Amino acid sequence: MRDTCEALRSYGVRTLALPVDLADATERQRLAERVLNEFDRIDVLVSNAAVENEGAFVQTPWPAVDQTIEVNVAAPIHLTHLLLPHMLRQGYGHVVHVSSIGGKLGVPYDAVYCGTKAALGEWSRGLRLELAQTGIHVSTIFPGYVVGVGMFARFGMPPPWLVGFCTPAQVSTAVVRAIEAPCPEVIVNSRPMRPVFALAQLFPRLGDWIIRRSGVAEFQRKKVGG
Ligand SMILES: NC(=O)c1ccc[n+]([C@@H]2O[C@H](COP(=O)([O-])OP(=O)(O)OC[C@H]3O[C@@H](n4cnc5c(N)ncnc54)[C@H](OP(=O)(O)O)[C@@H]3O)[C@@H](O)[C@H]2O)c1
Repeated sequence: MRDTCEALRSYGVRTLALPVDLADATERQRLAERVLNEFDRIDVLVSNAAVENEGAFVQTPWPAVDQTIEVNVAAPIHLTHLLLPHMLRQGYGHVVHVSSIGGKLGVPYDAVYCGTKAALGEWSRGLRLELAQTGIHVSTIFPGYVVGVGMFARFGMPPPWLVGFCTPAQVSTAVVRAIEAPCPEVIVNSRPMRPVFALAQLFPRLGDWIIRRSGVAEFQRKKVGG
């Protein structure tokens, strides 16, 4: 966090780094208050933090499930709720949520994570429609498996080739572009995924079949050491 602040300062940007536990509603409130006290305005909110806590659902301890829900869904919704009134008063603002392609098509051994990412996507859609004509934009970014660094790369396994991948730079570029030219959703992946998502929506049984036949189900099982 310190490195990021220093890099931003070299561009003449004012920065404030606040370590907070986003699973804690009181800390989320403290974060919003500090930001508003310090800057007195809020142009963009990017909710990027998340936890994965993958594994067989039935064996996942409840505190891990609860933490995933709090960090991945409750925190973005709560922070938006705290900061949106200020954006509305300003008459402009942009809320960006980093979801995942798992939020478009759930995979095994990551069901809670995928569920939180799906919730983020559809909540964003509803909010976007609600905020039409207010000057506030809401965008959701759906990255595929991210290689190089991050929660997937830490497993040290290459992504299933049929599914594809993306890089951290591609994800951050997508966030910047979504803000510069507001767009509802961006899927960041080396292979086209929209047709697969559309087919799975129309034919859920086919969606399950694709996940199994593409090797993703087996890959997910191996990823958690199953
Ligand atoms: N990596 C992928 O393949 C992939 C694919 C699709 C979508 N995504 C999404 O991309 C985003 C970034 O993922 P990543 O790969 O960079 O993950 P990561 O390396 O695990 O980083 C997650 C970030 O979330 C923060 N965080 C976790 N729990 C927190 C909490 N309770 N309070 C405050 N901060 C917390 C972490 O802070 P600390 O470092 O301080 O713990 C860290 O900065 C996430 O939304 C993820 O779901 C990632």
